[in-house]
Amino acid sequence: MDLSINKKYPSVYDLRERAKNKIPNFAFEYLDGGCNEDVNLHKNTSDIREVELLPYYLSKHTRSDMKTELFGHVYDAPFGIAPVGLQGLMWPNAPEILAKAAFEHNIPFILSTVTTSSIERIGELTEGRAWFQLYHPTEDSLRDDIINRAAAADCPVLVILCDVPTFGFRPRDIRNGLAMPPKMSVKNILQILGRPEWALKTLVHGQPNFETLKPYIPKGLDLKQLGKFMDQTFSGRLNEEKIKPIRDMWKGKLVLKGVSNEADAEKAIRLGLDGIIVSNHGGRQLDAGESTIRPLVRIAKEYGNQIKVMMDSGIRSGPDIARTMASGADFTFLGRSFMYGVAALGAKGGDHTISLLKMELQQVMEQICCENIEDFPNHLIK
Ligand SMILES: Cc1cc2nc3c(=O)[nH]c(=O)nc-3n(C[C@H](O)[C@H](O)[C@H](O)COP(=O)(O)O)c2cc1C
Repeated sequence: MDLSINKKYPSVYDLRERAKNKIPNFAFEYLDGGCNEDVNLHKNTSDIREVELLPYYLSKHTRSDMKTELFGHVYDAPFGIAPVGLQGLMWPNAPEILAKAAFEHNIPFILSTVTTSSIERIGELTEGRAWFQLYHPTEDSLRDDIINRAAAADCPVLVILCDVPTFGFRPRDIRNGLAMPPKMSVKNILQILGRPEWALKTLVHGQPNFETLKPYIPKGLDLKQLGKFMDQTFSGRLNEEKIKPIRDMWKGKLVLKGVSNEADAEKAIRLGLDGIIVSNHGGRQLDAGESTIRPLVRIAKEYGNQIKVMMDSGIRSGPDIARTMASGADFTFLGRSFMYGVAALGAKGGDHTISLLKMELQQVMEQICCENIEDFPNHLIK
């Protein structure tokens, strides 16, 4: 096992604490927060941690291997990097840093439609390995154009999102006047002055922009106009009628993200999708909703033999990944954990966080005598 890991930050919680002191408060709160009263945010992690694993100490053990086959590619670990918007606001070049680290570690990176790097740039950096998450455009022509660009960038997996039918109610962002770029209130300027490294790197790198969407955004919009443009350009609510033409058009693997119940999972199968990500957007949309591990168990049991069932939301460690895989997931994703890593450690943050999670997961596998990923459910205490 690689022990060259930065010993100051041996957990995602250490990275989170460091990130808090490295970036302005409005950026940290945008990353860290859930919605409304943050109930769903906390339940995601605490419910995963209710899951217990059984070790078999006297079994014969040769080696534990976390390689995982998914959509015809063998990844080095059963976890990937979830799509996150506005990454460059939290650290300049964050999407590039994470995409490169994911490529080097041979795990999937999903690029968000609304982040600060383009499909083309990330496609190049990852030699066509990155997945792309599409926010559904209102106009069919825009939808087709973005999908064609993803195909031209050799993107193997298109992820469509169903859990943002309307905006998430996030009190911190409302209080902070969070917009793109951040509103320069006196409070925000003071926060920036208190984070000189972030400020300098941001100054050198330039203002973050929606790079994938740049060709479609009229020049010279002020902030209010940009907000209105984004509202009009993306329709929010997804439905079966909107998924059908995407399935017809997209030749690669198609994944639905944001599935929270069996009915939507069943529809995804009927529509010919290849995978679903059971997700509640990291607790950022429906505070009164279930944590993700609960529907994951039900969906994996009922549909796990018909479609790839993946999960995100609340995972913060190797043991959390192990618990989720034991509960029936084929693969897992993490959002905030990787962004804490980059905000804490800059260019080294992606590599550090992936190495850390791999080490933690390897340790669990060896501890419980789990030789490969498929073996995890045999260690679940029901
Ligand atoms: C700051 C932030 C921005 C996000 N932006 C997007 C996005 O643009 N598209 C998307 O599909 N999901 C987005 N998500 C949700 C993540 O893809 C993922 O579902 C979530 O972060 C998983 O929960 P975790 O952060 O607890 O690991 C975002 C999450 C965060 C924290």
